[in-house]
Amino acid sequence: MAPMARAGGKAILLGEHAVVYGIPALVVGLNRGVEAVARRPRNGMRSLRIGDMSPVSPDDDSILGKAFGALLEACSLDAPVVLEATSALPIGAGVGSSAALGVACARALAETFALPTSPELEQQRALAWERIFHGNPSGIDTAAAALGGCLFYTRGAPPEPLRLRRGFSVVLAFSGQSSDTKKMVDGIAKLREQKRALFEKQLDSIRSLVMNARLALEAGDLVGLGKLMDLNQMILSAWMLSTQEIEELCAIARDAGALGAKLTGAGGGGCVVALCDGSPKVILEAWERAGYQGFASPVGASLPDPFP
Ligand code: PMV
Repeated sequence: MAPMARAGGKAILLGEHAVVYGIPALVVGLNRGVEAVARRPRNGMRSLRIGDMSPVSPDDDSILGKAFGALLEACSLDAPVVLEATSALPIGAGVGSSAALGVACARALAETFALPTSPELEQQRALAWERIFHGNPSGIDTAAAALGGCLFYTRGAPPEPLRLRRGFSVVLAFSGQSSDTKKMVDGIAKLREQKRALFEKQLDSIRSLVMNARLALEAGDLVGLGKLMDLNQMILSAWMLSTQEIEELCAIARDAGALGAKLTGAGGGGCVVALCDGSPKVILEAWERAGYQGFASPVGASLPDPFP
């Protein structure tokens, strides 16, 4: 039996979109993700199947077929292979399902074909796959899928794992609309062209929010972190990335005791992330009463709490 490879999804706490332009961002790995297994078939077949979707081959014209081809090429693998993956992450929801698929598949191929591997190689391979879907990914999703934990991420630099003073939970809910990351990223690029000076100021503001959020995480100041997430949401709304459902989900979460709430990922739909110190149950139930499904994912502390 070929071994099962896994990779987790992600939630961006602060800095999405700005991260594409070199501003740092904060991201956490989720306890939900993707499983993949690679087998060497007896025939000369090369195929990838995700869940109950039809299998694709690397020679297909479909986006998935092309991504599979890019992944095999990044792994320098031309042997026959049957790759199968299942995902527990919603697609087009800003929780990094495509990056988790890329990393899990890269891991499965490395296992079965005894390829050289490392977190850096996994990210490179998964990024080749991601580029087919997103054109110009910053790499934050693949870094979170490969490394997990809580990362301070700057495009082109090695991701920095943060040492957290206190653990917390992120609570996520799907707004009901999926969104297309490439379309949203292209929309922000147009906005940047139209309003260059204002956009640069907004990038500077996001940089300050992220730097302060990093300090808050390292100091265990979750109240401060939540406020910074709310402020980030205001800029994302000004960029027209929010929706009525996202605003509703944020308001419900804050009323139910979340320390902060914002969209996460590309926006225009997708998920909201709320910060929770304690049990996420109240927030999940409040969302459920309003007709939204959510889930919680813990983020563990990595330093002793001086103020337990
Ligand atoms: O793939 P998504 O929807 O989680 O978005 C990723 C975050 C963006 O900053 C919007 C894009 C990127 O490449 O960093």
